[in-house]
Amino acid sequence: MTGGASIVAERLSKTYRVKVREPGLAGAFRALFRPRYREVHAVEDVSFRIEPGEVVGFLGPNGAGKTTTIKILTGLLYPTGGRAEVAGFDPWRGGAPFKRRIALVLGNKQQLIWDLPPEETLLLNRAIYGLSDAEYRRNREELVDSLGIAGVLDKPVRQLSQGERMRCELAAALLHRPELLFLDEPTLGLDLGAQEAIRAFVREYNRRHGATVLLTSHYMADVTALAPRVLIINRGRLLYDGGLTELADRIAPVKRLELVLEREVDRADLERFGAVTVLEDHKATIEVPRRDVARASARLLAALPVADLSITDPPIEEVIARAFAGEATKGVDAAERAGDVGDAGGARGAGVPEGAPSPTAAAPPRKEAE
Ligand SMILES: Nc1ncnc2c1ncn2[C@@H]1O[C@H](COP(=O)(O)OP(=O)(O)OP(=O)(O)O)[C@@H](O)[C@H]1O
Ligand SMILES: [Mg+2]
Repeated sequence: MTGGASIVAERLSKTYRVKVREPGLAGAFRALFRPRYREVHAVEDVSFRIEPGEVVGFLGPNGAGKTTTIKILTGLLYPTGGRAEVAGFDPWRGGAPFKRRIALVLGNKQQLIWDLPPEETLLLNRAIYGLSDAEYRRNREELVDSLGIAGVLDKPVRQLSQGERMRCELAAALLHRPELLFLDEPTLGLDLGAQEAIRAFVREYNRRHGATVLLTSHYMADVTALAPRVLIINRGRLLYDGGLTELADRIAPVKRLELVLEREVDRADLERFGAVTVLEDHKATIEVPRRDVARASARLLAALPVADLSITDPPIEEVIARAFAGEATKGVDAAERAGDVGDAGGARGAGVPEGAPSPTAAAPPRKEAE
């Protein structure tokens, strides 16, 4: 049992079998009769638990295994190893009762019907989830209101702006008022204003309904605005599980001293105090270990013509990039994975791997092409 947790992942692994394409006609011919496969370890031994009402950011570079993990947790993929429990269900076997508890939004796939107004998808989802008139009206009203989509529900989806479309996607995905949201890049490709609208909505939905949210995004602003806790995955392995604020301490335990100097100084003079990362005219940035900050800045002020000094943390993007850079030099199959990322779009389209039964879903998410 989960002991009350919303999401439990226990040593989850997912290995895809990918057909190797051999070059040339002879290769194609051979592949037809005796195809060769290679394995892609998309997720390896990943464990975490998420308590009800938590908002957790799921971060990692392209091809890290985020979408694969989310697909396992929502019952679209069966894990090769390990166990998942979501809202008390085995996602793969939970069927319709499980689907009623969750929502999955994939930023790069849509569930809205392209040629019809979003209204039609809402009605369809109402039928799929078996909502009563009262539930439908209540939930619809709340979503239309908080997403500000009253004016676009009757336009064909293809005529909507990206931001409008994503807001309608959210309305369709949350019409049944799920308690668990899996949002895979919900702000993908949106401009800043539209991103902010989505963030505000997710924050509000979490507060109002106590919903649990697992969110991936390439925009750090989404994560810093919404998720006090982050999971970082790289090449299928979980690198970090903890507070966003503690991340910098753990991965880049340095502070930045940003200096404005009264006159130019030699790089060598600055290097006595720490690693010089920027030196332009009268401006310099020096990185020093956190524990040395006080001492280094006092010495610096005494020794150099400092007009201004500020002490900052490295930006979280950089901290995370550093975490990945550190990891990239470890691990045997890093190069192979990096290669996979390039054609991830095609590979992902293949979806359910060889021999896997189809998802038991009676209700959406229906976004999987496979
Ligand atoms: N259906 C599939 N068949 C084969 N390989 C796949 C499939 N789906 C994903 N992969 C591979 O598994 C790895 C993890 O992919 P995944 O989509 O989970 O990454 P991600 O973290 O979501 O990346 P991104 O940030 O680019 O969305 C990649 O190497 C990818 O190429
Ligand atoms: Mg992804």
